[in-house]
Amino acid sequence: MTVQRVVCGTQADVARRAAAQIAELIAPNPRAVLGLATGSTPEGTYAELVRLHRDEGLRFAQVTTFNLDEYWRLPAQHEQSYRRFMEERLFSAIDIPQDQTHVLDGMAADAAAECAAFEAKITECGGVDLWLLGIGSNGHIAFNEPGSAGDSRTRLVDLTPETIAANSDGRFFDDPADVPRQALTAGIGTIRDARRVLLLATGAGKAPAVTRALDGPIDADCPASWLQDHRDCAFYLDTEAASTAR
Ligand code: PGA
Repeated sequence: MTVQRVVCGTQADVARRAAAQIAELIAPNPRAVLGLATGSTPEGTYAELVRLHRDEGLRFAQVTTFNLDEYWRLPAQHEQSYRRFMEERLFSAIDIPQDQTHVLDGMAADAAAECAAFEAKITECGGVDLWLLGIGSNGHIAFNEPGSAGDSRTRLVDLTPETIAANSDGRFFDDPADVPRQALTAGIGTIRDARRVLLLATGAGKAPAVTRALDGPIDADCPASWLQDHRDCAFYLDTEAASTAR
């Protein structure tokens, strides 16, 4: 399998084209199951989906969503929780019922049980049709940090110092001390089970990770490299993120 590389120009072009892919899935298939991501990268895509809902009647009433990850021990109402991120950027502005949106519960009493229930729910819904992803500058996907196995499932993980630093650069948390040290994350195997994977990357800072993921060996040093043998995976890149790939 070859990962499809789509160089879109600017960050705004990536957002428009990613949203268009999602709209093309949902419009003829209103019960689609979407996998979603948080972070800076997908924000433009969510803004465009909100616009398509508002201005062009794109409906989400029967869509089901699963999010990649959530900070461990951060309450859902915390301003940096991923549940809150999704509510603010997308869910509250579209017509999706809350009980069709699944974000792991970082306050669950039992992490293993919460992760098992998440996997079971995906199976019950028939699997994920399309999972939208970002990529960390260290090559992580979701919170699968380097060292994660290609068949890993949803679980509690430790965040690397790089990820803690990346998420406390003022975009999200201001102080590294405030960033949770652990998270619940869908595994690489969980993500690879999706029928389609759409990875977005923008900015020069992501170029080395993108190049390593696409053109390097498939191994745990770069978790995103496990996508190379996915049957239907595309990387949507702006010119900067694509600047060093073959
Ligand atoms: P970012 O994060 O979109 O905020 O750069 C991506 C990621 O770490 O997966």
